[in-house]
Parts: sequence; structure tokens; C-alpha cells
Amino acid sequence: MPLSIVILAAGKGSRMKSNKPKVIHQVASKAMLQHVVDTSRLLNPQQIIVVVGHESQQVVELMQGQALIFVEQAEQLGTGHAVLQCHDELTPGNDILVLYGDVPLIRQATLEQLIEAGKQDHAVCILSFISETPTGYGRIIRDLGDNVTAIIEEKDASDRIRRINECNSGILLIKGSEYKALLLQLDANNHQKEYYLTDVVKHAVAKNQTVVAVICTDESELLGVNNQQQLAQIEQLYRAKKAAELMTQGVKLVDPQRVDIRGNLTAGSDVIIDVNCIFIGDVELGNDVEIEANCILSNCKVGAGTIVHAMSLIENSVIGAQNDIGPFARIRPDTVTGSKAKIGNFVEVKKSVIGEGSKVNHLSYIGDCEMGANVNIGAGTITCNYDGAYKHKTIIEDDVFVGSDTQLVAPVKLAKGSTIGAGSTITKEAPAGQLSFSRAKQLSFSNWKRPKKN
Ligand code: UD1
Ligand code: CA
Repeated sequence: MPLSIVILAAGKGSRMKSNKPKVIHQVASKAMLQHVVDTSRLLNPQQIIVVVGHESQQVVELMQGQALIFVEQAEQLGTGHAVLQCHDELTPGNDILVLYGDVPLIRQATLEQLIEAGKQDHAVCILSFISETPTGYGRIIRDLGDNVTAIIEEKDASDRIRRINECNSGILLIKGSEYKALLLQLDANNHQKEYYLTDVVKHAVAKNQTVVAVICTDESELLGVNNQQQLAQIEQLYRAKKAAELMTQGVKLVDPQRVDIRGNLTAGSDVIIDVNCIFIGDVELGNDVEIEANCILSNCKVGAGTIVHAMSLIENSVIGAQNDIGPFARIRPDTVTGSKAKIGNFVEVKKSVIGEGSKVNHLSYIGDCEMGANVNIGAGTITCNYDGAYKHKTIIEDDVFVGSDTQLVAPVKLAKGSTIGAGSTITKEAPAGQLSFSRAKQLSFSNWKRPKKN
């Protein structure tokens, strides 16, 4: 049966003490709801419906352009009520998988187990877990044959039921053919005066249909977020899982507790990552790459054998093989470096190509620049790329040598093999193979006396 996924995301999340709706709070630099949507996609559903309510505009805006169907639940009258709001959008007959927008760590493999169980003829399949601290959760009631007969919410439960430690995760799968009959029977006759989605279980059982619970052994996947403490706990779990994965792949993490992976980090063999590095989005590290302490890399590729020294930032760029980057380098978007390039300390590079073997070793700004191979840029060189209105290009051809403290006023070109004398302000093309400089003549005053304090 084709699958419809319904993600519940209408809750206010008042305990977050935030003006933002709960589900757009981020785990690993990505909204919690986005995590759930991304995992949902891996299941190839025919449709994904997101139930929004509190500050829904913010949620819809953040998630726009992603082929999602948004359904407004103006008043939050319970999980059953939330699913009922999707009635007009749900493709009739599709099986329905209900997920929570504030349970971001749920894994594809776990949901696939639930879907697999649903292929037998069960009306409802629940994802449950065994907890030593079940307080607050709905409890799973089973008969002697282990079939599930009901889910009782904590607030409606007797002491005997509260002692049951099998809990409802909230995630469940409802058979498409049964959905309508089961949901239309829901009422709010309970302690909280809410429409409980969990009541589909007792209605199915009353009709002699079977309900099963698939036990998820990793409770951390099912953790929901209600406050900042839980958000931090989930961030920590995510980080630990990613670190463990990397070590399994052979990456050396100097301290797995002190690395943050907020996206997808792929690494070749013999990669070493020192402490306090943050990896955001898609980052690819080649073989033998070493990242020293306190670096932040986001959406970038780093070629084999490159060392990124401490305190360096690389963003949306492609770094070639065997580069030497940093310490204290800042590489901004759209930078591409060839192999064996060197970007040293206190160097900022933006939207530039740095050719093979070229060096910008100290205290420089290189922006909107096309640099060839084997160029040497002296300390304190600045490309003056901005005239206050427009950005202009600096072209530096192969084998150019630029002396220290030079300003290259763009648009300008330094032709192949040219040499620029230190302290120059270059405003015109420097011809190939020639020495160019612009420098005030040095004067010396033999009679001059340094002022002295009386
Ligand atoms: C629910 C389950 C409980 C389970 C627990 C797991 C029911 C009746 N109970 O309880 O068995 O153990 O989750 O955490 O389903 N939401 C809406 N609209 C609503 C109500 C809720 O979108 O009208 C969303 C919330 O934003 C949240 C999720 O549904 O993401 C769960 O709601 P919540 O109120 O936390 O459910 P619980 O009462 O904790
Ligand atoms: Ca909850």
C-alpha cells in the first residue's frame, strides 16, 4: 500500500520559553521538523502532511518549496484531533504513518520495522519502548496472547497500569482501509478532554482487529523535546552518534566528546580531527586530512593530505590536496584552491581561485581574485575589490611575486611572471616578466632631531 506520512507539529511548546514554534528549534543546525521530514522522505511516502498550529506561518515559511502539505489545526484538541484535520488531504486507502515533529532522532530503519509489521494484516502497529522511568507516557496494555488491547494515558491510568513499563512512543501506523472508521469513532471522554489518537487501539480491538506493538530498543530515538534541557540532551546524543559512526569508519577523533557534527561529514582514510571542531552541512575530507583544534568547516571539501591548522574557518569552498591552511585562516564562500596551496595566518580569502602551489602566507585579504600557479603574495597584501558600489576582479597570472604591503586596486591584472615591489599601490596592469612598483621616494634628514620631553 502507498504510504501517507502525517507529522504532528501543532504544539506550542510553552516550556521552551521561546517565541518560536517548538519544531523549528534546531538540532545539529537543522530544524527538528526538518530532521523528521528528511527521514520521512527516505521511506518514499506518496505524501507528507504536516499538521501546524501555533505560529504556523513561521513553520510554513521555513519549510516552503519542499513538496509538503500543510494542514492547520487551529485549536490543539489532541493527537487524534490533529490527525482528523488531515482528512481532506489524505489519499484514501493509503496506510498512515504518524510521526512527531518534536521527536527528531527517529531512524529510517526503525520506521521500516514498523512498516514491515504493518504488512501483516494488523489494523494498527504501535512503536513502543521499555522504560525504567515510564512516568508521563501512555502505557501499552497486552492480553495473555501478547496482542495489544489498549493504550492508557498516564492521567487516565490506575496504579496497577502505571506500573507497566512498556510505553507508547506516539509513533504508529494505521492501515489505510481502517483509518476512517477508527478515527471517526474518537471522542474526548477522558481525563484531559482530548481526542486521543491512541484510542484507535481500543476501537480496532472492539472490532476484532489485531494491534501489535513493535518494541524499539533504542529509547534515545524516541526522545521528544519539551524544554531546553531536552533539546541540549538530543543535541548531545546526535553528536555522540555521529562521532561513533566516524570512529567506526576509521577516523581518529582526539576526543569524541569534543567534536560537533551538524550534518554529513564524510572522511577518507587516516583522517585526524583534533578537539573542538565543528562540521556543518555537507563536509567531505579526503584521505590523510588533518584538522587541528578549534576549526569550523561548513559545506566544503578538503583534498587529500591537507592540513587545516588551528582556529581556521572554511565555508562553502573547495580546498585542494596537500594544502596548508591556517592557523587563523578565514576562507569564505566560493573559494577554490589548487593542490599544494598555502593560506597562512590572518588571511581572509573570498570568492577566489588560488592556483596550484601559490602562497598567501600572512595577513592578507584576497577577494574576487583569479590567481594562477606558483604565485607568492607577500604579507599585508590587499585586493581592493570594492569601490563602494561594485566589486571588481584582480587577475594574477602564474609565477607572479607580490612584495609585502601592497594594494592591488581592482580591476587590475598582474601578468605572468611579473614582480611587484613592496609597499606598492597597483592601479594599472603590471606587464609580464617586469618589475613594477609605486612607492614614494625615500628621504633622509641629517639635521633632524627627535622631540624630547622637558
Ligand atoms: C502522546 C501519547 C502518549 C505517548 C506520548 C509520547 C496520545 C493521546 N498520547 O502523549 O501515549 O506516550 O505522546 O510522547 O496521543 N500535537 C498536535 N496537536 C494536538 C496535540 C498534540 O499537533 O492537538 C502534537 C504535539 O505538538 C506533539 C505531539 O503531537 O508533537 C504529541 O503531543 P503531546 O501533547 O506531547 O502528547 P502527550 O500527551 O505527551
Ligand atoms: Ca509529549
